[in-house]
Amino acid sequence: MLRTGFHFLTFCALFSLLCFSLFLLYNKTSANLQPATNGHKSLFMEMTENVTKAVVQQMESKKSEAKPAVKEEKKEEVKEPEKKLLETCSDNPPALVGPLRVEFDFKGSLEDLKTDVGVGLEMGGRYKPPNCVSKYKVAIIIPFRNRHEHLKHWLYYLHPILKRQLLDYGVYVINQAGNGKFNRAKLLNVGFLEALKQYDYNCFVFSDVDLVPLNDRNLYRCFDNPRHLAVGMDKFGYNLPYNTYFGGVSSMSKTQFEKINGCPNTYWGWGGEDDDLYNRVMNRGMTVSRPDLMTGRYRMVKHDRDKHNEPNPVNPGKLSGTRWTMEKDGLNSLSYKVVEITNNILFSNVTVDIEAPPG
Ligand SMILES: *[C@@H]1O[C@H](CO)[C@@H](O)[C@H](O)[C@H]1NC(C)=O
Ligand SMILES: *[C@@H]1O[C@H](CO)[C@@H](O)[C@H](O)[C@H]1NC(C)=O
Repeated sequence: MLRTGFHFLTFCALFSLLCFSLFLLYNKTSANLQPATNGHKSLFMEMTENVTKAVVQQMESKKSEAKPAVKEEKKEEVKEPEKKLLETCSDNPPALVGPLRVEFDFKGSLEDLKTDVGVGLEMGGRYKPPNCVSKYKVAIIIPFRNRHEHLKHWLYYLHPILKRQLLDYGVYVINQAGNGKFNRAKLLNVGFLEALKQYDYNCFVFSDVDLVPLNDRNLYRCFDNPRHLAVGMDKFGYNLPYNTYFGGVSSMSKTQFEKINGCPNTYWGWGGEDDDLYNRVMNRGMTVSRPDLMTGRYRMVKHDRDKHNEPNPVNPGKLSGTRWTMEKDGLNSLSYKVVEITNNILFSNVTVDIEAPPG
C-alpha cells in the first residue's frame, strides 16, 4: 500500500516537472522571439528551472551509470549518418576529358610539382575524392631506381588524372637499394605488401615510371579480371607488340593477385617477368581485360637502357615452367628488408634491399 502511494507520488512529481519544463521551454522560445522581456524572469521561475535541471541531470547520470555501453553505441549512431551522406563515386566520373596532350616538358623541381599537383593530396601521395566515396582503394606501385626525371613527369601527369577518375588512391615508389641486378617483379611484390601495411587497399596498379596514358578514360582501377592498361605504346606504333603482352601498366585486385601467388621473384634483369605474370593469370583460369586501342594509348619517356638492368638470357627459358614454379615462387617465398620509408606529399618512397645479385 505504502509502495503504491510512493509510486503515485513519484509519478505526480515527474508529471508536474514535465509540465514545468514544457512551460519553461515555451517561455524561452517566446522570450527569444521578444527580446524585450529578457532578463525579467521571476525568482520562482529561476528556482524551478534550476530544480528541473538538477533532477534531469541526476536522472541522466544514473542512466549512464547503469548502461554505459548503450551510451557509447548511441554516440556511434550519431556519427554514421554523416558518412552515409556521401554517395558512392560514379563508375563514369563526370570530369574525364578523354584524349590528352603529353609532351614531357615539365622542367620544374620536385618542390614546384608539389605546389602544382599536390593540391588535395595527403602525405604519401594519398587522395580521396572529397564529394563521394570511391569503391576503388588503389595502390599504384612503381618499381624504381635512379629515374628521378621520369618520376617527375609521371607525377605531373598522373595525379590530376587519378583525381579526375575519383579513386581513393596512394602512390608507392618502390626504390631498389644498391647496384645489384634490377628486379621489377620482386619490387611489385614488395609494393603489394608494403602498401597493405599502410591502408586497406583492394586494388593494385603496377606501373613503369616512364609510362603516361594519353587518355584519362583509361581507368586506373580493377576489373573482374586482371587488366592490361598499356595496350598501345608509342614505341610499338600504338599497337600491342604481341597478343599476350602484359607489360608496362597492369591492374589486379587484391584477390586476383593473391590467387596467382603474386609475381615471380626470380626474374633478375630485364625481360620475361611480365610474360610469367600473364601465364600465372591464365593458369588460374582468369583472362586479361583491356581498354580499346584508342583509350589504351601511352607515351613513354625516351631513355637509354638502365645500367644493371640488361636483358637476362636466362629469363625467356623459364616461361615454359610457370605452371609449376608459380606455386613456390611468389608472395609465399618473398624475402626483403625495408631500408627506409620517406613520405612526401606526392608519393611514398619505400627503399628496399631485395637481396640482388651483383649486376
Ligand atoms: C540558479 O542557478 C544559477 C547558476 O546555475 C544561479 O546563479 C542562481 O542563483 C540559481 N537561482 C536560484 C533561484 O537558485
Ligand atoms: C627514396 O629514398 C632514398 C633513400 O633515402 C633516396 O636515395 C631516393 O633518392 C629516394 N627516391 C626518390 C624517388 O625520392
